Amino acid sequence: MLPRIGEVTPLDRERLDLTRPGEIRSAIRSFRPSFIVNAAAYTAVDKAESDQAVARAINAEAPAVMAEEAKKIGASLIQYSTDYVFDGTKTTPYDEDDPANPQNVYGKTKLEGERAIQASGGAHLIFRTAWVYATQGRNFLLTILRLATQREELRIVRDHVGAPTLNREIARATTQILAQICGQERGPVSLVGVSGIYHLTAGGETSWYDFTNAILEEAAKIPDATPWFAAATGNLPLIARRVVPILTSEYPTPAKRPAYSVLSNARLNGTFSVKLPDWREQLHSIFVAPPAEGV
Ligand SMILES: NC(=O)c1ccc[n+]([C@@H]2O[C@H](COP(=O)([O-])OP(=O)(O)OC[C@H]3O[C@@H](n4cnc5c(N)ncnc54)[C@H](OP(=O)(O)O)[C@@H]3O)[C@@H](O)[C@H]2O)c1
Repeated sequence: MLPRIGEVTPLDRERLDLTRPGEIRSAIRSFRPSFIVNAAAYTAVDKAESDQAVARAINAEAPAVMAEEAKKIGASLIQYSTDYVFDGTKTTPYDEDDPANPQNVYGKTKLEGERAIQASGGAHLIFRTAWVYATQGRNFLLTILRLATQREELRIVRDHVGAPTLNREIARATTQILAQICGQERGPVSLVGVSGIYHLTAGGETSWYDFTNAILEEAAKIPDATPWFAAATGNLPLIARRVVPILTSEYPTPAKRPAYSVLSNARLNGTFSVKLPDWREQLHSIFVAPPAEGV
């Protein structure tokens, strides 16, 4: 979606390893971009508990270097962060000014990244998103569909509440906001005065258990397997008949996760007039209008 706004130079791990600060500096100095969009991260939440140094290098130190270099050339840094900066003890949506209190290494290192960017004093937008899924890669949606071809019963945590957010909705919102900043929509919006943290998630809230039921409901309704669905299920029939709600305590993981991490998007909506659809609508959309390749 970003190419609609201007020339985009995508860099993957082969071209730029984020554990090497020197590579980050020389890439930014040679490309001299107007915007740096950093969607890369160390996202293996459980593995991070025992791999702290690498998680910190990618989630905290790399964004710090990007922010420092961006400031030198007057570029703006767009960074993605996470609902896992919160401890999950609230029962109403978190806003950006609620105190962060991450409960795991991943959340701590992402928060360090946020703080380094803010401390740089350069123009930035930090978008905290949550429960991201997509029709490719590794994520909850694809795991559930695969398991549903293998097991009649799925046991899924019901005491964690959040807002599952589709990757293309994050891309769409980011593109809309950058288009505004570049003056392509609603007149130019300068980053001066709007630099900061914004929550950017699907509307509504659900549990992993209810999300699973919704995935299986949608999957049961589709008349023909789309290519992404065929790849997710290996063209096998779904045999899952029961979804059993369980407690987190019955499914121990190395990293502790927030029990409630719904984020209020009011600041995003008020500043940029951008509102993401409800999580149920987002889920439905991939079954009726599959994402284009590469989104
Ligand atoms: N997934 C979620 O539920 C979730 C929730 C909240 C926030 N977020 C945030 O949203 C953003 C995107 O998350 P995601 O789930 O899309 O991540 P993802 O699927 O795990 O992708 C992470 C990307 O980072 C790249 N990467 C990792 N280490 C790298 C390194 N040393 N050098 C260069 N590239 C490296 C990976 O490259 P390879 O493919 O080569 O490994 C991959 O392309 C992240 O900032 C994440 O913290 C995600």
